[in-house]
Amino acid sequence: MTPVLVLNGPNLGRLGRRQPEIYGRTTHAELAHQCVAWGRDLGIDVEVRQTNHEGEMLDWLNAAADDGNPVVLNAAAWTHYSYAILDACAQLTAPLVEVHISDPHQRPEEFRHTSVVTPYAAQVVAGHGTDGYRIALEALARR
Ligand code: DQA
Repeated sequence: MTPVLVLNGPNLGRLGRRQPEIYGRTTHAELAHQCVAWGRDLGIDVEVRQTNHEGEMLDWLNAAADDGNPVVLNAAAWTHYSYAILDACAQLTAPLVEVHISDPHQRPEEFRHTSVVTPYAAQVVAGHGTDGYRIALEALARR
């Protein structure tokens, strides 16, 4: 079975320590563990990756387009300005679910109110903390 890729962008490797009042106390390692366990419950293979390097994320998205992997993407800050991420999302061949731990639209910084990912997302899950990843995996499992 083609695994679902959970791809996390810049600064998400510091989850648990990074602004916990916004992003919570779950670490990236704990989140990765939970995603795999949620996937197991849903009968889907889940692979979780995080990178601070845009080129690496682009390589993963390009490979997902070739291999037909469904993707759960939290592109973090790239969400708001990266046209390279936009072009990579446009090429995906299986469903994409966009996830944000916080709700960028409810945050005061204007730049967070734009997403280059949303036009290509089957669903957007935002503001549910790390539980949003479970909601995204459930949505993909239903498809
Ligand atoms: C984020 C929201 C983005 O605005 C921010 O740049 C992030 C994380 C979230 O998960 O809430 O790094 O994508």
